Amino acid sequence: MCGIVGFAGKQGGEQAAPILLGGLKKLEYRGYDSAGIAVRDDVSGETRIVKAKGRLAMLVSKTDEGRAVPGFCGIGHTRWATHGEPSELNAHPHTSEDGNVIGVHNGIIENYQELKAKLMRHNYTFYSETDTEVAIKLIDYYYKKYLHTPVDAINHALVRIRGSYALAVMFKDYPGEIYAARKDSPMIIGVTQNGSKDDGTYLASDVPAILSHTREVYYLGELQLARLTADGATFYNLDGDEISIEPTTIEWEADAAEKGGFEHFMMKEIHEQPKAIRDTLNAYLKEGQINLASESGSAPLDLSSVRRIGVAACGSAWHAAMAGKYVIEKLARIPVDVDLASEFRYRDPILDEYSLIAVVSQSGETADTLAALRLAKERGIPTLAIVNVVGSTIAREADYVLYTYAGPEIAVATTKAYSAQLIILYLLAVQAAYEKGIINLDRYSALIQSMQQIPNAVERTLDNKERIQWFAAKYSSAQNVYFIGRGLDYAICLEGSLKMKEITYIHSEGYAAGELKHGTISLIEPGTLVVGVLTQEDLYEKTISNLVEVKSRGAYLMGLTTFGHYDLEDSASFVVYVPGLDPLFNASTAIIPLQLMAYYLSLARGLDVDKPRNLAKSVTVE
Ligand code: G6P
Repeated sequence: MCGIVGFAGKQGGEQAAPILLGGLKKLEYRGYDSAGIAVRDDVSGETRIVKAKGRLAMLVSKTDEGRAVPGFCGIGHTRWATHGEPSELNAHPHTSEDGNVIGVHNGIIENYQELKAKLMRHNYTFYSETDTEVAIKLIDYYYKKYLHTPVDAINHALVRIRGSYALAVMFKDYPGEIYAARKDSPMIIGVTQNGSKDDGTYLASDVPAILSHTREVYYLGELQLARLTADGATFYNLDGDEISIEPTTIEWEADAAEKGGFEHFMMKEIHEQPKAIRDTLNAYLKEGQINLASESGSAPLDLSSVRRIGVAACGSAWHAAMAGKYVIEKLARIPVDVDLASEFRYRDPILDEYSLIAVVSQSGETADTLAALRLAKERGIPTLAIVNVVGSTIAREADYVLYTYAGPEIAVATTKAYSAQLIILYLLAVQAAYEKGIINLDRYSALIQSMQQIPNAVERTLDNKERIQWFAAKYSSAQNVYFIGRGLDYAICLEGSLKMKEITYIHSEGYAAGELKHGTISLIEPGTLVVGVLTQEDLYEKTISNLVEVKSRGAYLMGLTTFGHYDLEDSASFVVYVPGLDPLFNASTAIIPLQLMAYYLSLARGLDVDKPRNLAKSVTVE
């Protein structure tokens, strides 16, 4: 979704505009429909705002790669429209009428109409449809009313704003300074003082935007403010008192957010899955045993006493949780209820029965997932976060944190983070089964060994990608695709289908094979592509029967199974084989061909693989 960058540099150092444009480029993956920057020209004292609808390249060309907007201090934004259509007028930065306050904003201001009405009573007028313009003018109002400092003015505004925000604001009277504040929307501040030309203080809503400049960052906390100058950052609480925040070093490699020779981030990330899986396993395997010591510094999770687990997540993370449910229930015999986080928060869930509420999230910032976590905390249930982004809001607020070690994921359609999430869920299942005494040491060790084979098995699956490419080229004009499977295979189908619709725009559905006859089978026409997933021995024949049923109604069948099940070719016209592991872990290999198929189909259809229309990497609004 929206992205924020800011740079307060030294006079005579690096110009702000190219740094802002470079940072916005790194945030493009989050999804956006317009962009803008504001840079203060130190010679004239004026701050110039330039905005453009559409791709960032428009803004780059409009500003002559930043050269047309000179100055050492500025802010930039990529907007994903919520209030008001994507247009130059609605794009950020927004400004007060006299240019006194200029700012950008991520998130949603829920009571913006009430605030707008109040400001209109004080003779403010509005040029855009955005909630952001209201926030900027509210800050301007308090700044003028009380003749306060920027920190006081922002704090006055913040206590009146309901909703979520990350704000970056510049004041005409404070050259060379940027003010930032956040609630429920991430904001980091990075500092470099190495004597290099790009020395200064950086602001970003997401790590990749500033990774090439600095790895020393401060995570701004909830309802905290920061004042950035070329020499560093000062932090304040809502009362305006100065506070201190400890810096953190980002461990990601500087080139981790680059394409590294691949045509698209998605393909690079698909190929990074063996590493993501290996790194995640290695983080929790110590001397042949699983050690789930939480990164939150709390005591390790006591799985032996867990009676029931609730999981809330969105998108692919929800699909990972669906797979996790099968594995945990089967192995550890702990009931697991999986909820869409957006449903969980509004159904007034009965939580007393749960020993643990887990949330799964790549970004650690998804608004609904965060709300689910907070609801569980409010009700006093222990919370566990399975998160990829270190220091994200969800990671900081959960009682226990188990990080996935997938590294930065840029493509909107997740691949490696999903695969790493599966690993954490397997580890939880195996460890819980062992701690509860359901499996003995031999079975425990065998399961661990089987997990350790996953990275190689994924590598071998990736080696077969040409076959999928060929098949995708053949089916690039498909209009509907159905993925069917039972049990764990159903969970794989859900994720395979999501990949398909996200990046190919082909209508697809993941369906429990046994449910087909209750409706979906009426959609099968001659030539409809149906993908059967059959990695579970005990359900194999049942799913074959369902495949045969759709075949006799004209469907074209693709089968996905483990090596050895060659009889599937009697029914399916095209079969993909993956290495078989312990069946509980087969989702890890089976998902690979489905990711590849979506990728190649998207390519064949000439679409923007990494930035599919209307989607955002991190959904920070409801
Ligand atoms: C968006 C992304 C998905 C992701 C979902 C949940 O829809 O495009 O890839 O699965 O959000 O995001 P999270 O960061 O919470 O895993």
